[in-house]
Amino acid sequence: MANTLVVGTQWGDEGKGKIVDFLSEKADIVARYQGGTNAGHTIVIGDEKFIMHLIPSGILHPNIQCIIGNGVVIPLESLIKEMDELIERGIHIGENLLISDRAHLIMPYHPLVESGANSREGSKLGTTLKGIGPAYTDKMNRLAGIRIADLFDAELFAEKLDFNLQSKLKNLESFRSEIDKVVILEKYKEYAERIKPHVAETSLILHHAIRAGKRILFEGAQGTLLDIDFGTYPFVTSSNTTVGGVCTGLGIGPKAIDEVMGIVKAYTTRVGEGPFPTELSNALGEHLRKKGAEFGATTGRPRRCGWLDMVVLKYATRINGLTSIALTKLDVLDEIDTIKVCVAYKHKSDIITEFPSNLKILDECEPIYEELPGWMTPISEAKSYDELPSHAREYVEFISEQLETKIAIISVGPSRAQTLVLNETFSRRTSFSPAKSISTF
Ligand code: GDP
Ligand code: IMO
Ligand code: MG
Repeated sequence: MANTLVVGTQWGDEGKGKIVDFLSEKADIVARYQGGTNAGHTIVIGDEKFIMHLIPSGILHPNIQCIIGNGVVIPLESLIKEMDELIERGIHIGENLLISDRAHLIMPYHPLVESGANSREGSKLGTTLKGIGPAYTDKMNRLAGIRIADLFDAELFAEKLDFNLQSKLKNLESFRSEIDKVVILEKYKEYAERIKPHVAETSLILHHAIRAGKRILFEGAQGTLLDIDFGTYPFVTSSNTTVGGVCTGLGIGPKAIDEVMGIVKAYTTRVGEGPFPTELSNALGEHLRKKGAEFGATTGRPRRCGWLDMVVLKYATRINGLTSIALTKLDVLDEIDTIKVCVAYKHKSDIITEFPSNLKILDECEPIYEELPGWMTPISEAKSYDELPSHAREYVEFISEQLETKIAIISVGPSRAQTLVLNETFSRRTSFSPAKSISTF
């Protein structure tokens, strides 16, 4: 099997958790490389629903090594809560969960700094307020960042905490009671003891695993258009969500990534502020939100909904070097008689096919749509590609042709069982393709 990256191609919430869980059956290791508790990855197995924020989505499978890499930012209280909730539900959390000693902490003051900054005029990005931006800022700033390893050096930890509380005090005056140094030191001593058995030099573990031919799944959080470099800056998150983040967020070489599977939702959603050219602010948008249950898995906010956007997806295909696609939530389009897909943007008198970096230009872009017939039949019970109605297959083939990339998986419902495999990606075979017109490369 090939080591596979599962990466979001849109603005997050494409169904990465479901696909990682599905692929985990054939994996030895599942590793998260960036983001933090801003992520909410949903897994549905029968009547049970799990939402992962920090813990890799492979954890529900026995005998899988889950790794939280150095590129992830970790609020310890939330991590321990997530571990405890899984344990309560009968999921084993022991040596199967490892945490990089180089990962940075989201400290109690980070969300407070963020709510302060967010309330300022002009800085409304619509973040999750989980402290992601402030924690990555401290990491890059170098003097303020606190790493997992620092927890085990009491003197250094106290020194760093002191430095942070002093330097952040002016922003945190109104939260003084919530950031008592003695209380934090006490709590973090407990947290450190609790997570100690899970802390490791995870890049070394991955190195040995790669050499031993173990099968690794790399689990992305957020999506390509939320990447700090390639997303709709400044309406992005603070990490590299795209393929480059795997190497820096785990400490592995690029050749360890064999397959790059882009997760494409059959339409588009976005949570928070920022441009969204194909957004539907009408009854159809409302229909997608309702039928697709498009409410944030982390914050519960309603997700903005719109048509599929090929300009976005071609960009994501290029930036990540996608080798295959998992198309999710196709069933959500079941009741739409004419489905539109944006194939280019009109900007003044120009036709644009490359995703603009200039947000002013992006704001002025009008989507140019191609129309495809809807299938108007429920597909969530389909068990194979051939069982899908012909118009659904045409939609799938249109996407594959446009992106010049094979579709490996189609998801027709939230549950593990509602997953159609079109191509055995793990075995590197490309013998099956849904139709002759679908190009593979
Ligand atoms: P992630 O952040 O990329 O893991 O995605 P989320 O979990 O935030 O959002 C995806 C939502 O869609 C979750 O509620 C999933 O249970 C659900 N979902 C995933 N795949 C499908 C699908 O094929 N059809 C439907 N109807 N729901 C799906
Ligand atoms: P998953 O992994 C969807 C969005 C926020 C906001 C922007 C910046 O579940 O796909 P942040 O708190 O990261 O500084 O917020 O990014 N955002 C997400 N949107 N899915 C996510 O994760 C997201 N993580 C962050 O809504 O617009
Ligand atoms: Mg999500």
